[in-house]
Amino acid sequence: MKKILVTGGLGFIGSHTVVELQHAGFEVVIIDDLSNTTIEVLENITSITGINPEFHQIDLRVKTAVQQFFDTTAVDGVIHFAAFKAVGESVEKPLDYYENNIGSLVTLLQEMKNHKLDHFIFSSSCTVYGQADELPITENAPIKAAESPYGNTKQIGEAIIKESCNAYAMNAIALRYFNPIGAHESIKIGELPLGVPQNLIPFITQTAAGIREELSVFGDDYPTSDGTAVRDYIHVVDLAKAHIAALQRLLNKQNENNFEYYNVGTGKGTSVLEVIKTFEKVSGKSLHYKMVGRREGDITAAYADTTIANKKLHWKTEKSLEEALAAAWKWQLKQ
Ligand code: WQD
Repeated sequence: MKKILVTGGLGFIGSHTVVELQHAGFEVVIIDDLSNTTIEVLENITSITGINPEFHQIDLRVKTAVQQFFDTTAVDGVIHFAAFKAVGESVEKPLDYYENNIGSLVTLLQEMKNHKLDHFIFSSSCTVYGQADELPITENAPIKAAESPYGNTKQIGEAIIKESCNAYAMNAIALRYFNPIGAHESIKIGELPLGVPQNLIPFITQTAAGIREELSVFGDDYPTSDGTAVRDYIHVVDLAKAHIAALQRLLNKQNENNFEYYNVGTGKGTSVLEVIKTFEKVSGKSLHYKMVGRREGDITAAYADTTIANKKLHWKTEKSLEEALAAAWKWQLKQ
């Protein structure tokens, strides 16, 4: 049985990936510092799969702790989620973002190199494309100057991994996520936003639940079909499964390059108003919302061309926007 380290394995995408890894027959060891999640997620994973994953509470910035982990644990691959992810916060605290997102990545790769470990999967982001000139966005679209320190950590992170793969004969895949939403069908794991949600779906579900008074729709004058911005919303379970596909590609030595990167989205663009209408349909709730000005830094439209990911990873999305929003709503009701 192959053993896989999942850093940030108790977070939103990490926890869903741990479940899919266990379903696929992998042994999982989780590292998480619990800075943006709770230890209960571990029990919830166990109650879904019946398997209790090994867990280490480690802050990846603490080099000695990471060294000690790798000195005592042999793994066949690493899926690295642990990172800060709030775009706005990264503008206020850029050094925290570079220290955590870049520092941890470097430490992790150093230790993998020192222990002659291979097979690295990295959480990257469609933010690397900025507002792409052509839609849907292919992997060949140029990387645009990052709009935020957060986005920059993903671009720099990819570059560090690519150079490490060349220098140390390692193999890695970066997955460029579009907009992950939803929750596991068991409704035992999901997204736990701290404070006021910045992302659309948790803001919608909290508004429908009466926690927020009203949703502000940021911008109704975009050059899209209804004037609101368009994104590619992917069910988190479909996204989690892309990690298993990428890992298997590396473990089976099917990768054509030592560093590869793939778009992980549905290939379908949906406007904010379409998301609202679909949410109202699946929840039976009518949502309070108002149109306000554009949010700084937002782009008009982004959705993935998934042709290459579908072909090379033998992976495709299976779940609809309706299913994802219904799961997000059930998860909200459970909170
Ligand atoms: C979606 C749409 C908003 C909130 C995502 C990730 C981010 C980064 C990039 C990860 C936009 C609109 C939102 C609200 C609104 N990815 N909106 N009212 O901006 O696409 O960013 O991809 O690496 O971390 O979150 O996602 O969910 O914030 O916004 O109208 O209260 O909803 O303007 O058009 P975004 P989002």
